[in-house]
Amino acid sequence: MKLFLDTAVIDEIRTVHEWGVLDGVTTNPTLFAKAGGGTYEAVLEEICGITSGPVSAEVVADDLEDILREGREFAKIAPNIVIKVPMSETGLSAISHFAEEGIKTNCTLIFSAAQGLLAAKAGASLLSPFVGRLDDINQDGMEVIRELAAIIEIHGYEAEVLVASVRSPRHVIDGALAGAGVATLPFKVFGQMVHHPLTDKGIAQFKSDWQKAQAELAGKV
Ligand code: E4P
Repeated sequence: MKLFLDTAVIDEIRTVHEWGVLDGVTTNPTLFAKAGGGTYEAVLEEICGITSGPVSAEVVADDLEDILREGREFAKIAPNIVIKVPMSETGLSAISHFAEEGIKTNCTLIFSAAQGLLAAKAGASLLSPFVGRLDDINQDGMEVIRELAAIIEIHGYEAEVLVASVRSPRHVIDGALAGAGVATLPFKVFGQMVHHPLTDKGIAQFKSDWQKAQAELAGKV
C-alpha cells in the first residue's frame, strides 16, 4: 500500500521522506493555510523537490474554465503534480477534460461509493473518500472504501482508492485490508504507526541489560 503525507508542512515531509516510506503528498487549502510560509505554488514546488511521488494540489475555483486554468498552472510546476478536484458536476467535467489532456487528478471530498464510481468513470486517477469525516457523523467511512475498492477491482478501472481524512493507524490498516491502494496520513498518524509502548519498553530494557553486562565485564577485568 502507498502511504502519502497529508500536510503542507515542509519539515514533516522531509522527516517522513527520510524514513524512506513516503510515496507522495496531499495538500488542500486548509492544510496550506495552517502551514503558513510562501505562496501555494512555492510550497508545492518545494514539496516536489523532496518527493518524486504524486503531490496533490487542490483547485478552489467554481466554474469549469477557472478550474481548468488553475489546474493547468499547477501542472506546470512539476511532472508529479496531481490536480485535486472536489466532487461536483463541474468537478466531473474538469476531471474528464484533465484526463483528455493527460493531466492526472485526485477527486476529493468523496463521501459515497456512487460519487467514487462517477469520478473513476470521468478519469480520475485517485479517488479520495473521507473516512474520518464520515465516522464523525456516525456513518461507517470504511464501508465506502470497501465498496469502492470492490467496484474498481470488479470493473477494472485504472483509478486507485485513497483513504483520506485518516484519524488513526486503524484507518490505515482497515483501508489496506479493504483493498485501497493508498492512504494519506497526517504526520501525527505516521508517528503513531511507528511507536508501540512495548517497543519503547523493550528498547529501554535491552539498553539497560546491555549496560549491566558491560559493567560486570569491566568489573572482572
Ligand atoms: C485528503 O486529501 C484531505 O486533505 C484530508 O485527508 C482531509 O482530512 P480532514 O478530514 O482531517 O480535514
